[in-house]
Amino acid sequence: MEGFVMEDYVFHRDFSKSYPIITHGSGVYLYDKDGKRYLDGCSGAVAANLGHGIEEIADAMAGQAKKSAFVHTLRFETEVLHSLSKKIASIAPEGLDRVYFTSGGSEANESAIKLARQIHRDRGKAEKHIVIGRWQSYHGNTFGSLSAGGDIKRRHVYTPNLLDFEHIYSPNCLRCPYQRSLDECSRNQNPSCVQSLERLILELGPENVSAFIAEPIVGSQLGAVLPPEEYFQRVRVICDRYDVLLIIDEVMTGFGRTGSHFAIDHYGAIPDIITFGKGVAAGYAPLAGMIVHEDIVEGLLKHSKGKFMHGYTYSGHPVSVAAGLAVLQIYERENLCEKARMAGSYLYEKLKELQGEVPIIYDIRGKGLLLGVEIAADAAGTPFPPEAAASERINELAMEHGAVFYPGSGTIDGMRGDHLIISPPLTINQEEIDELIHSLRRALHDFITEMMGVVLNEASK
Ligand SMILES: Cc1ncc(COP(=O)(O)O)c(C=O)c1O
Repeated sequence: MEGFVMEDYVFHRDFSKSYPIITHGSGVYLYDKDGKRYLDGCSGAVAANLGHGIEEIADAMAGQAKKSAFVHTLRFETEVLHSLSKKIASIAPEGLDRVYFTSGGSEANESAIKLARQIHRDRGKAEKHIVIGRWQSYHGNTFGSLSAGGDIKRRHVYTPNLLDFEHIYSPNCLRCPYQRSLDECSRNQNPSCVQSLERLILELGPENVSAFIAEPIVGSQLGAVLPPEEYFQRVRVICDRYDVLLIIDEVMTGFGRTGSHFAIDHYGAIPDIITFGKGVAAGYAPLAGMIVHEDIVEGLLKHSKGKFMHGYTYSGHPVSVAAGLAVLQIYERENLCEKARMAGSYLYEKLKELQGEVPIIYDIRGKGLLLGVEIAADAAGTPFPPEAAASERINELAMEHGAVFYPGSGTIDGMRGDHLIISPPLTINQEEIDELIHSLRRALHDFITEMMGVVLNEASK
């Protein structure tokens, strides 16, 4: 069929696209079979936090595969499982000491939602089952995690299948969904984005509400939008008031990405459950999971005979866990939290310079090496029309210029608006950041030329 790529056997993510075939990776670069090099400006999908081709991790995985590639956690455990759990607990916030593994972030969030429900039920609060998530947040693509998330485009096709989860708006001070100004909020103990949580819990009946789930920094949906400084402390108070468990989704933000082990560390609140994924094995193996507070584990021992009614075949897969252990050792040895902070501020500075030169960069935000660039048609933030698929197109042009970013759309209201997430491996150096900015500059100039027929200052290209 014309316009589709059909000459192979792959069920492609998008049959209208042709994908470069990657043969290998090294450091921050990926190489395709024609020898073209791409600077990985988004660590794949904010996962490959150490870059590519690290033999030490491959060796750890091979070593484990040779010793015992698979055991089922219903019957057996492995030493690597214990070592990695201990290591993760040692960097998690106080009290979060027990680690449960899954293969991906969606499964991690499913597990957290189920654990919250089981704990309430077993403690005698059988009505507690409702999960509150947030519009314009993402928690995964399985039905439970998609229902918890608030990504209108991803939910749209599956609306009839989705579960009846509730939502408030994610805070976004640049475009407050509650139409409040920063000044109003600074005068108010509990701004609207926090009040809305309490109001919804009361409306639903606290006896029915099980958990509130939130990304500490909203990744794919909003492009690294930060919460107000005290948002999570205030949310914590409300969750405690109504015995609602606080699940913080660190699938994108965990393991040094934002310059601390977990992004919630920046905001002084202790969650009941942290879910994680991506960076834990830095893309070398499918690995994710949840870190659970001791209070919940105590409840499980007291009321549930210590049994969680849940599990996956590949929970704690030894080869994935071995990858995770090698990865965490490298994060620690190379002091990558600190490096993410330093490289992040250099990248931020360079993006600010670029903003002064290219009129379609509306906003730059984020923390550490999780930065978002919002694209708009003018200085007032007017979005490009959705048909222009601005962020996708800019990324295509960037790939032509040898760099890849993580494009996103629906930034303003779930349907309109565009952003790019810029989240290179935490190991990136200044020269490579300069190269990344150069490719982005060229892509933005090309896009402007395409959209507006304007060639901006050829000399700067
Ligand atoms: C915050 C967040 N949660 C959950 C997920 C889902 O993770 P996975 O794709 O590994 O299932 C993602 C993936 O992008 C994510 O960014």
